[in-house]
Amino acid sequence: MLVFPNSFLFGTATSSHQIEGDNRWNDWWYYEETGKLPYKSGKACNHWELYKEDIELMAQLGYNAYRFSIEWSRLFPEEGKFNEEAFNRYREIIELLLEKGITPNVTLHHFTSPLWFMKKGGFLREENLKYWEQYVDKAAELLKGVKLVATFNEPMVYVMMGYLTAYWPPFLKSPFKAFKVASNLLKAHAMAYDILHGNFDVGIVKNIPIILPASNREKDVKAAQKADSLFNWNFLDAIWSGKYKGAFGTYKTPESDVDFIGINYYTASEIKHSWNPLKFFFDAKLADLSERKTDMGWSVYPRGIYEAIAKVSRYGKPMYITENGIATLDDEWRIEFIIQHLQYVHKALSEGFDVRGYFYWSFVDNFEWAEGFRPRFGLIEVDYTTFERRPRKSAYVYGEIAREKKVKDELLAKYGLPEL
Ligand code: GAL
Repeated sequence: MLVFPNSFLFGTATSSHQIEGDNRWNDWWYYEETGKLPYKSGKACNHWELYKEDIELMAQLGYNAYRFSIEWSRLFPEEGKFNEEAFNRYREIIELLLEKGITPNVTLHHFTSPLWFMKKGGFLREENLKYWEQYVDKAAELLKGVKLVATFNEPMVYVMMGYLTAYWPPFLKSPFKAFKVASNLLKAHAMAYDILHGNFDVGIVKNIPIILPASNREKDVKAAQKADSLFNWNFLDAIWSGKYKGAFGTYKTPESDVDFIGINYYTASEIKHSWNPLKFFFDAKLADLSERKTDMGWSVYPRGIYEAIAKVSRYGKPMYITENGIATLDDEWRIEFIIQHLQYVHKALSEGFDVRGYFYWSFVDNFEWAEGFRPRFGLIEVDYTTFERRPRKSAYVYGEIAREKKVKDELLAKYGLPEL
């Protein structure tokens, strides 16, 4: 049996654009409508209208935490224009969660930005941080009663997808701009930390893929180390050092702090030496670590969650697994995925690593960015025509784990790894 501490958070995670629906004022919506993005989020899961039912469902299932994001473009649909109604809706969501004993963990920026902000250059231009500051000030008011607030979701994924591969808005393929954006995100984080710290525990959510060398040739090993630094660690290091090492030089950024680090963990990548130091960003090959691949084409490598925790522990901060999940229609596989990853989270805990919670991605099936609605990550199935929610078996199994703070022997015997 795996026993977790009583204070451990067992939650689920979502983000505004992926579930709310009708997010018409952000950059994603704009490119969805113009056809530059292959799919339209439309009503998504219609959570903006069904939030009460959704929170009720979470409570019934026994989850004691919920990570979600607030949509900047809802609060400020146009420059200088504030939307009170959206503010009140988010307030209601927060109050409902607190009332039900579900700990909110709120992210301020999860990939989407107001279109008007992006038209001014978004995070590429430092002078635009005054708009971010205005948003964070409002968030401070909005989030009263919340403890855990994260500034950015996966900053390096945002930079990679928006400015390197440029598969995502704003589709600006420029390595120079990319690292400039990263350095400005660090400035934005520091700004938000100063505004929020004291009233909130302020964190950042970082995706930590395991980056492996394609062979044990020294060249590949070095290339993997380099990619690992550039993707996984330079950004986090700079939060304290104030020196952000991009691919082409070092940027001076403010010395700041975090009160927790959120780890998103899904899979591993493989790196081969290349003349191009940015090869990882443009052409990361997914590592082949499991015979079966998820509907995203990803290997399943449960030990990686433990490795990510062990590596992030170098910063000496409390950690939360803010995302971990699987896209599959095979719900038995989802249960196995959760249990095997929890085995490794438990191993980390038993070795003294300060992990305080686990958030499964995702609460419900949702809009998977440029992949549209096909990948099904949810514990709860969504019927996109009626918006009906149908909890899968995994939703109940995870609920039992959450309520009891235990993974029972029967579950371990059926789904667990015999040995770690
Ligand atoms: C993360 C992201 C989420 C979700 C998930 C599954 O990178 O934060 O929004 O899409 O991946 O792909």
